[in-house]
Amino acid sequence: MRTDVIYNGDCIQGLKRLPDNSVDIVVTSPPYNIGGSIHHNKNMYNNYDDNLSDDEYLNFIRECLNELLRVTKYYVFFNFQILSNNKNSYLEILHIFKENIKEFFIWAKPNPAPGVQPGLFANGFEFIICFSKFDVNGRTFKHHYTKQGKLSNTIIQKTNKDFVDGHFACFGKWLPKFFVESFTKENDIVLDPFMGSGTTAKACYELNRRFIGFELDLEYCEIARKRLKQKLITGFFGTQANSTSSSFNKDLTGNSDEFPQILPLAELR
Ligand SMILES: C[S@@+](CC[C@H](N)C(=O)[O-])C[C@H]1O[C@@H](n2cnc3c(N)ncnc32)[C@H](O)[C@@H]1O
Repeated sequence: MRTDVIYNGDCIQGLKRLPDNSVDIVVTSPPYNIGGSIHHNKNMYNNYDDNLSDDEYLNFIRECLNELLRVTKYYVFFNFQILSNNKNSYLEILHIFKENIKEFFIWAKPNPAPGVQPGLFANGFEFIICFSKFDVNGRTFKHHYTKQGKLSNTIIQKTNKDFVDGHFACFGKWLPKFFVESFTKENDIVLDPFMGSGTTAKACYELNRRFIGFELDLEYCEIARKRLKQKLITGFFGTQANSTSSSFNKDLTGNSDEFPQILPLAELR
């Protein structure tokens, strides 16, 4: 299977072409279905209005999670922010997948966007829910690379400082980094079916993991490629990338314009 590639197209169609257990973990943040919300900027995405009915959104997320559990060996880390336009769908999802929920992580935001009207509370947290098909009983993770003696906490308090020109819904780089570092080793494969501006790909590149992504919007795929390319250049002239890592050498001796590859979905075989 080809890795270090972002496929431009619908993730559900793409996921259906991936073999069972072909990736190690998933780290992702889906569109939240907030296009119809009066509190939100209707132009959050370029070409996607993010405004499905409750049933349509429920079916979309359900199909996506079913496919993600099929293609993933270990854990699916799926970011939920419960808002009025997706609350019914997400509560239903929690019920449907109750046998697959391993853990709830909370991303607590010290600087949430303020409540914009009286009676509206600032939304100070998001969930990152861990789904699994192999390790659901008990709260101890059977498959992990966390350090003995280093206590971890399910509440991760972080300010989102990472803003990316041209994409308004990206998550901070710490988020994929935290999960990739804790639950994969070098050269493992990480999937992000909603790759957006490439934050997961960038974290994987820095940690010498392989990645596969899907993204509907070609402009976002190009933003992702630019972010990774910047990283290659910084790594070459500076010290940020690990120059002994195999991916670093391979990418610099190859053509960095080709990294990561952006391919149409039809190329996924
Ligand atoms: C919340 S954003 C993800 C942002 C990403 N985590 C980042 O840091 O840039 C969701 C992304 O999913 C994309 N998207 C929406 N529906 C999709 C689909 N069916 N298949 C693939 N991508 C989709 C949107 O274009 C958007 O870029």
